[in-house]
Amino acid sequence: MTQEELFKKLIAHSKEYGYIFPSSEIYDGLSAVYDYGQYGSELKNNIKRYWWEAMVRLHENIVGIDAAIFMHPRTWEASGHVGAFNDPLIDNKDSKKRYRADVLLEEHIAKLEDKINREIEKGRKKFGDGFDETQFRATNPNVLRNAEKVEEVHTRMVNALTNNDLEALRQLILDCEIVCPVSGTRSWTEVRQFNLMFETKMGSVSEDAGTIYLRPETAQGIFVNFLNVQKTGRMKIPFGIAQIGKAFRNEIVARQFIFRMREFEQMEMQFFIRPGEEMKWYERWKAARMKWHQNLGMGAENYRYHNHDKLAHYANAACDIEFQFPFGFKELEGIHSRTDFDLSNHQKFSGKKIQYFDPETNESYVPYVVETSVGVDRLVLSVLTNAYCEEKVQKDGEEAGERVVLRIPPALAPVKLAVLPLVKKDGLPEKARGILSMLKLDFSCQYDEKDSIGKRYRRQDAIGTPFCVTVDHQTLQDNTVTIRHRDSMEQERVSIEKLSGIMDAQVSLRSLLAKL
Ligand code: GAP
Repeated sequence: MTQEELFKKLIAHSKEYGYIFPSSEIYDGLSAVYDYGQYGSELKNNIKRYWWEAMVRLHENIVGIDAAIFMHPRTWEASGHVGAFNDPLIDNKDSKKRYRADVLLEEHIAKLEDKINREIEKGRKKFGDGFDETQFRATNPNVLRNAEKVEEVHTRMVNALTNNDLEALRQLILDCEIVCPVSGTRSWTEVRQFNLMFETKMGSVSEDAGTIYLRPETAQGIFVNFLNVQKTGRMKIPFGIAQIGKAFRNEIVARQFIFRMREFEQMEMQFFIRPGEEMKWYERWKAARMKWHQNLGMGAENYRYHNHDKLAHYANAACDIEFQFPFGFKELEGIHSRTDFDLSNHQKFSGKKIQYFDPETNESYVPYVVETSVGVDRLVLSVLTNAYCEEKVQKDGEEAGERVVLRIPPALAPVKLAVLPLVKKDGLPEKARGILSMLKLDFSCQYDEKDSIGKRYRRQDAIGTPFCVTVDHQTLQDNTVTIRHRDSMEQERVSIEKLSGIMDAQVSLRSLLAKL
């Protein structure tokens, strides 16, 4: 199965099994807006809990807040979003399709890099064990030619973006002979800047309504509350403020399912520090956040850092933690050294002093900030794409059909266990319900007595339930049940009184947090 096929199947599976639906689907949906179903919302909640507990509960010097989505419009002038939160867009005149100019160029670079990788694979096959990749890269004419092109396109793109030179961006697209994927032509319009913020009106129109914005990041709700939290919480620098909440961006190119949405959720933490110490904290948070991701056990090789070529208007250092999605390595989380840009600007625009008196140095200053910012929806996508698996099932050494299984990390799985009476009679349902009443106080459980036990296992596999607890006739005699493991499909017999402890060790958030 190609990665593209896998991605299509995952989207269909997410809908069929209650994870993610297109928004307002009965009206044919709304582009790049999605709803989370009964399992999707549980998964999302578990991811948010993992982040919140790791950030707020495990750090004595980080507290959490919940600021409003609507903010005073001056906030967005101070933050620079009114002036600079733009994407360069370009239209194809024949297909009338709109693209982000930088994305077209990045895709062009990715194609050149693919060519290089294919050439290297050819070399590896040809030379076998004696293959020296470094030497091959340095000498093979095809690799050298394409590497030179990558370097040239990349440098020109970064220069054009940094200098906000839209004509140079367009010229680069023409020089690279990039065609529209729909019309196949090179008939491009000028490049224009497009602000990503959604506007709305506050108050009734007749009352001279003011324009306000749906927040494009949650971070500003933290900055404007810096003094409130610092004073009421008696916080001492270094300290952090964390927040989970919705953000909105009018994305031009909204593709790839929940990867790029117009309404999405962020988990952000602003860490306030002494000026001059930002690089130390930037490196620490880079490492801590990578550890948090890799702790999920979805393969360390699926994550990498990517330094930003063009820094956002507020940053003096920035990188992404990327994840290997079916469409390649893409940004999952951003880590930014935001200097004192935001607090200083809020001080300037509001006319209110926003400073911290440092009792250790006897100085007052505007703190610097290192930010960690991760998208909940992208995390959901990373978990689901990593989890989706189609496999042949063996029984007694023979092939016994296929199954689709979501190998979701147990601590994040929406349903932790299903309690299944083997048959719908002989007192087994009553016994099973008794077990359910006990376990559901601690774990998210399901009860299912319909269809054969095999079919019920498949249903639980498809939603990613890590354990099935089966109640059979032996249970009535000795108070034992079988636990069937989702990934190995192995079964073990355990006593009912041990069930809770066994489950807790395997599925609790505690097991993840303890490893951080
Ligand atoms: N406060 C900094 C900030 O907002 P960002 O890199 O623009 O930085 C942070 O966004 C994270 O938010 C991204 O790494 C991504 O996970 C998520 N994100 C951004 N735009 C998104 C979108 N349109 N759809 C889904 N997630 C998005």
